[in-house]
Amino acid sequence: MPVISKMEEVRNEICALAKEASSAQDLMEKMVKLLPQRVLKYNWVGFYMLEPGAQPPMLVLGAFEGAVTPHTRIPLNQGICGAAASSGHTVVVDDVNTDSRYLACSLETKSEIVVPIFAKGRVVGELDIDSHFPAAFTSEHQELVQYCAMVVGKKLEASGAF
Ligand code: SME
Repeated sequence: MPVISKMEEVRNEICALAKEASSAQDLMEKMVKLLPQRVLKYNWVGFYMLEPGAQPPMLVLGAFEGAVTPHTRIPLNQGICGAAASSGHTVVVDDVNTDSRYLACSLETKSEIVVPIFAKGRVVGELDIDSHFPAAFTSEHQELVQYCAMVVGKKLEASGAF
């Protein structure tokens, strides 16, 4: 019998969600619920989307699951979130307390990953995940979170929003 890893299992579930979701917003709302249920060390999962037309550019909190955060609007020159959106690259921080860019949400957070979401080749938002465990985001987790961000980008493109 073929053995599939937990990561593959979750990836397949995300793929199914993307197919059945009625919109990108629906997909994001379902994804922030599914991920922490399936991967217990994902303690905060949320989307920040670039506010259309805002000058200077601004990340605005969208669907999320976890503790309420004071950071509902983040400029691109602030935080791990700003770093990921402005560079267009995934940012992984194994120990948030040693990273001067970090904007705290919960005192329990130890590590964080932020993956940009692209639509039509442009950054339109990002998927942010915090963990209460240090160095939670190993390469297999990075691949999973990047996959999640990619399917949201595809759904946004399909919706004609960009
Ligand atoms: N830690 C993020 C801010 C978002 S909250 O963690 C939910 C940052 O440094 O940008």
